[in-house]
Amino acid sequence: MKKRTSLLFTALVALGMLSSTASADVKKGQKAYLKQCKKCHGSGTKGAAMKSQDEWEAAFDNEAETFVEWHKGTDGEKYSNGKKFKKYAPHLKEFLFEYANDSGNVPSC
Ligand code: HEC
Repeated sequence: MKKRTSLLFTALVALGMLSSTASADVKKGQKAYLKQCKKCHGSGTKGAAMKSQDEWEAAFDNEAETFVEWHKGTDGEKYSNGKKFKKYAPHLKEFLFEYANDSGNVPSC
């Protein structure tokens, strides 16, 4: 019984570690982009190429202050202040950074 409990505990800890190391993920960001940004900004190729790596990096600083600023007073304002964006922001950043216009990478979406 005791052994079982500690095994379960170990599994939970391992799972927790797994999910935190996977906390920023290009693939997840790509999915989120297609779901959330594509309708306004077009394909992932086009979207990520709107900015350079430095610009994307900076855009997500301070709770994505600059990103929110870009969308202020536009159709995207509600989205950029919303929960969905907050939840996926680390992944989105990872995806956008990976395929920024100076990254040399082109996504297949
Ligand atoms: C509901 C529509 C909408 C959504 C959703 C949206 N945006 Fe925007 N976004 C806009 C509008 C409108 C502007 C301001 C006009 C423009 O530059 O196209 C803008 C501006 C921007 C800019 C600044 C462009 C520039 O010229 O400096 C970037 C970069 C950007 N958005 C990226 C994104 C990304 C990445 C996402 C998803 C995480 C996203 N947007 C989601 C509508 C949206």
